Amino acid sequence: MPRKVNAFAHQVPSSVRVERVRNGLGIVARRTFARDEVVCCFEGRILGARTVWSLWDRDPRRAANCMRFGPESYLDPGEGLGAFANHSCKPNGGLIPQGRRLLVVALRTIRTGHEVTHDYSTFLGADDVWTMRCNCGERACRARIGRFDRLPPRTLAAYRALDLIPGFIEATARD
Ligand SMILES: C[S@@+](CC[C@H](N)C(=O)[O-])C[C@H]1O[C@@H](n2cnc3c(N)ncnc32)[C@H](O)[C@@H]1O
Ligand SMILES: [Zn+2]
Repeated sequence: MPRKVNAFAHQVPSSVRVERVRNGLGIVARRTFARDEVVCCFEGRILGARTVWSLWDRDPRRAANCMRFGPESYLDPGEGLGAFANHSCKPNGGLIPQGRRLLVVALRTIRTGHEVTHDYSTFLGADDVWTMRCNCGERACRARIGRFDRLPPRTLAAYRALDLIPGFIEATARD
């Protein structure tokens, strides 16, 4: 059954809202954000890798929403804002870990009404087997989204220059 738009509005900061977008529900800016501004943040429970593995059988949608948060841990956004964060191959946002949460930072100006996206690959380690068929609609869409170390070299270099690949993700390619 489709989930009701903004059913989780009480968890959404006033800077953004959850709306229907190209790929289901997504996060939409309620005002203009300048480059480098923090747009919103994702919070939730930190789960061990084994717990997330067991979630794949019981609740695959929730498991798919979990974001890598360390060598052996993931952030489970539950029904919070992070559960509505869509991927784009030309993202306007980037995720920066801060304490127990992820800040969403604007990579360029994000205007009111535009969807806030990030590149899922920046948080997919070399040992993460999850992949997704992409429907972002960008001309440079990669079609299949997966581990960061398989990003096109120029894209990976650009993300590294912006510090968008956390150390714990880089480390998965060295292990
Ligand atoms: C964190 S949820 C985002 C919210 C989701 N759109 C919804 O309506 O529940 C992640 C899921 O959204 C879908 N998704 C996100 N970005 C996508 C994209 N670029 N292309 C296709 N599906 C996407 C995938 O099903 C993915 O597993
Ligand atoms: Zn794409």
